[in-house]
Amino acid sequence: MSTAKKNVKRITTHTLQAMKEAGEKISMLTAYDFSTAKILDEAGIDVLLVGDSASNVMAGHETTLPITLDQMIYHASSVIRAVKRCLVVVDIPFGSYQGNSKIALDSAIRIMKESGAHSVKMEGGAEISESITRILSAGVPVMGHLGLTPQSIYKFGTYTVRAKEEAEAQKLISDAMLLEKLGCFALVLEKIPARLTKKVTEHINIPVIGIGAGPDADGQVLVTHDLLGITKDFNPRFLRRYLDLFSEIKGAVEQYIDDVKSNDFPNDKEQY
Ligand code: KIV
Repeated sequence: MSTAKKNVKRITTHTLQAMKEAGEKISMLTAYDFSTAKILDEAGIDVLLVGDSASNVMAGHETTLPITLDQMIYHASSVIRAVKRCLVVVDIPFGSYQGNSKIALDSAIRIMKESGAHSVKMEGGAEISESITRILSAGVPVMGHLGLTPQSIYKFGTYTVRAKEEAEAQKLISDAMLLEKLGCFALVLEKIPARLTKKVTEHINIPVIGIGAGPDADGQVLVTHDLLGITKDFNPRFLRRYLDLFSEIKGAVEQYIDDVKSNDFPNDKEQY
């Protein structure tokens, strides 16, 4: 066990900060339901993100935009009931914080109160600073999210790598510094050049968690369904698949269908 996590029964935002300072990488994955969250927590994951990627992965939408605050609270409370050790971060969904800081605060409070989550995540920099400040002043820890921010997909037009050009890279660096100054406890950087991640990670003191952002972030996050190979049509270069569960589950279900049709299931021992 590392120095930063010694005797830690419950991961908090302070544990993550200590891990960055000790040079220990932070592991983070998504979870949207009780059963999966229980496995990931028992495996020792540091952070679970109830991501608005539930909109794609759970509900089959093309983007993260349709998922509602009520749906995020439902997913978050399922995850919270499962975990004993990890920190749970919940995405505030599109349309629940961009309007004004009062709406943003109401949304964050609903998530914390109704799901029991430990913190929230919001996409964007300077343009949402008032909302971040208001949520932080209510005592709710906020994780930032810069680079490819899927809630703005229709502004970007594509899911390609962000901040390759100097002007966008400079804006990302100044947004990262601003988020740290406002009091965010950590920052996700999505799909940006690895050298830019290195620069940001070295220049700010809060933990930086990367996805498609190279090896120099303080930690890594992936969508669990991608890592396990449950989704199979999403194949970005940054993704490492650890299992091919789509094929495994399909094979098991095909076997079950055969067993039912052939009267092999249930057998003598599988009945009362
Ligand atoms: O919603 C999500 O899953 C995310 C991660 C990709 C960081 O925001």
